[in-house]
Amino acid sequence: MSENPKSSRGYFATKAGIIAATVGSAVGLGNIWRFPYECGQGGGAAFLLCYIGFIALLGIPVICAEFILGRAAHTDFFSCFERLGSRRGWPWMGLIGIVASLMIISFYSVVAGWAFEYLRLSLSGNLISTGNSQGGFGAYFATFTGSGYAIVIWTVVVLALNYAMVLGGVRKGIERASTIMMPLLGVLLVIMCINSLMMPGAADGLSFLFKPDFSKITWNVILGAMGQAFFSLSIGLGCMLTYASYFKDSAELFRSAATTGILDTSVAILAGVMIFPAVFTYGIAPTQGPTLVFEVFPTIFSKMAGGTIWAIMFFFMLALASLTSTISMSEISIAFFVDKCGMRRRMACILSFVLALAGGVICALSFTHLDWPVNFFNLFNNVSSNILLPIGGLLISVYTGHILNKKIFTEQLTNNGKLHGVPVGLLRFLLRWICPPAIAIILAMSIGLI
Ligand code: TRP
Repeated sequence: MSENPKSSRGYFATKAGIIAATVGSAVGLGNIWRFPYECGQGGGAAFLLCYIGFIALLGIPVICAEFILGRAAHTDFFSCFERLGSRRGWPWMGLIGIVASLMIISFYSVVAGWAFEYLRLSLSGNLISTGNSQGGFGAYFATFTGSGYAIVIWTVVVLALNYAMVLGGVRKGIERASTIMMPLLGVLLVIMCINSLMMPGAADGLSFLFKPDFSKITWNVILGAMGQAFFSLSIGLGCMLTYASYFKDSAELFRSAATTGILDTSVAILAGVMIFPAVFTYGIAPTQGPTLVFEVFPTIFSKMAGGTIWAIMFFFMLALASLTSTISMSEISIAFFVDKCGMRRRMACILSFVLALAGGVICALSFTHLDWPVNFFNLFNNVSSNILLPIGGLLISVYTGHILNKKIFTEQLTNNGKLHGVPVGLLRFLLRWICPPAIAIILAMSIGLI
């Protein structure tokens, strides 16, 4: 890690390392688990169309905004508003982001745990035979998630692995892991897509994913697509901001933001191309929600030659991709504990771990037969993506567009005038006049306020 002589904060060493880390954060279960089921529930192509619109109009500008704030302040989400000169109250938004990040890591580590269990099943050679149980792969998955203690163990394992990697520091832990894993995942996905395209239901799957039925677009679908865009890009609660606080002055913010947006969206679309042909070939309901892909993946592997080997590679990559995402989530609260509260990094990691563990266990137990009045997993999942992240994105846009000194905005995007061709004016316009009202209207319409 390159040390900044003035502080103990680390820096990402290379440009490739920056892209690998931001893409590593963005690409994860959000693309491969959440996108397909949200898209399936939102009517397929209609959802995809809204989603791509949100990535371009809101997503990439908000990533730029987080990058600008993070690199200009070189500190955590809470302190950055203090450092950049804010009116009262803004740092508290940082605190909301920190709480939201702990909520997200709680349910996310449960899903990552599912991926680990499926990796274990594949390694033991038993994955494909689970389909022989009564009710097939779907029923097996329901039994597993209802089993309680197995999920709790996996959630704890995921969190322990995550914090062990995080303790390695910014560059060693995050950068190295992401640089190796992300390209491999891409290659594997392309192979899986080719396999899906040869299935008898390929034409139906592709038309579901790419041929929009505009009557399916409701406010709920629009809200879901917006929430998914925020979730998948890791924006709205200061995750990209925290990463950008570790960027060097030579990093190109707009280019990194655009690359992250494009790669992340490509992975989501590849996941769709992999999943939906199988959904239509094997008669699986695309609208079933969070359980969808854990029924579809094993089904696909059970029909492939050498299925177990493919399954091992796939779940291995999925588990790793989820770890590069959880690493970025935990960094939000850790940076806050270190920068704002003055804790040592080790202590900050332990505190963040304990908080995430409490949340993770609660979410893991949501699927058991415990008679809790609310399902915390669904609550955390939906409230964080569809409400907290958009509200965070709205406030970040307002702050960056209207309150932050325009000079800082331009200097950050152009590296003090050294970079040419960055659409500074367009980005500022979007952040000032498009993102805040669009997010506000969508939130209000879907909650039924207007
Ligand atoms: N974007 C990641 C994914 O698609 C999840 C994620 C990582 C995230 N960091 C985040 C979501 C911060 C919201 C906020 O899997």
